[in-house]
Amino acid sequence: MMAGRLANKQALITGAAGGLGVAMARIMAAEGCKLALTDVNADAVQSLADEINASHPGAAFAYAHDVTSEEQWVDVLGRASEDMGGLSVLVNNAGIGGPLMFVEADTAENWQRQYEINLRSIMFGCKHAMPHLRASAPGSIINISSVAGLAAAPGMGAYNATKAGVWMYSKTIALEAAKMEWNVRSNSVHPVFIKTPILDPFVAMAGGDEGKAHERLSRGIPLKRIGEPDDVAWCVVYLASDESKFITGAEFVIDGGMLAQ
Ligand SMILES: NC(=O)c1ccc[n+]([C@@H]2O[C@H](COP(=O)([O-])OP(=O)(O)OC[C@H]3O[C@@H](n4cnc5c(N)ncnc54)[C@H](O)[C@@H]3O)[C@@H](O)[C@H]2O)c1
Repeated sequence: MMAGRLANKQALITGAAGGLGVAMARIMAAEGCKLALTDVNADAVQSLADEINASHPGAAFAYAHDVTSEEQWVDVLGRASEDMGGLSVLVNNAGIGGPLMFVEADTAENWQRQYEINLRSIMFGCKHAMPHLRASAPGSIINISSVAGLAAAPGMGAYNATKAGVWMYSKTIALEAAKMEWNVRSNSVHPVFIKTPILDPFVAMAGGDEGKAHERLSRGIPLKRIGEPDDVAWCVVYLASDESKFITGAEFVIDGGMLAQ
């Protein structure tokens, strides 16, 4: 049996082909976790599974999965649970940023898209993963929100609102699972700017100069830098493991001290 902080755990990560998902997958695999890696980008998530299986044979499975489809959630969770021999961790990580728009320019389409991908998907995930998590208990749900779910910024109305929804919904699920004695915990994670493709619009705004964009984004951060994907992945490892067995309904801010000001 593989040793590690996540030995005997089976985790499904959505949006696993993106910057944070890739870091989580690599680090969780190194900690002995079995992984179901899902993304709309099926090729990228398959390459990631192949890479992980090269060093951890049989550890990773890949699935094409659009988190806005309830049907796909049911199908992917069933297959993942069978392939991994259970499901003890759900990481709701898939998410998108929208265009920066002040209220008078904002649109129904922008809100609908962010609502479906950032927020409603998490209800589908929690709803349909819960029977699997209960069967493999102790279980852990980790919802990737954002500092933008706790503090607002101009031009980010739909992102602020959907990520705040993720924050509160994580607590609802935590309380329901506690009340029903399902032995499943639920927590949210709130990163500030982390170096992933989601920051591409800010790089474009800095004329394509990544260093300049990162320097601008780090200005409000006491630790004077933006985050690395592993800064988030290690928090997810902790929440996925039984090390955090008394922690539920909580929020984990990963922001270099920004919200402490
Ligand atoms: N990077 C940051 O600065 C930052 C900060 C705070 C919160 N977050 C949150 O972290 C999470 C991961 O972001 P990231 O930085 O890795 O972004 P990313 O853009 O690198 O990756 C997002 C991934 O989600 C996938 N995805 C998009 N729509 C999907 C859908 N409908 N179904 C399934 N997958 C879909 C994309 O294909 C991509 O692989 C998001 O929820 C994001 O809001 C990121």
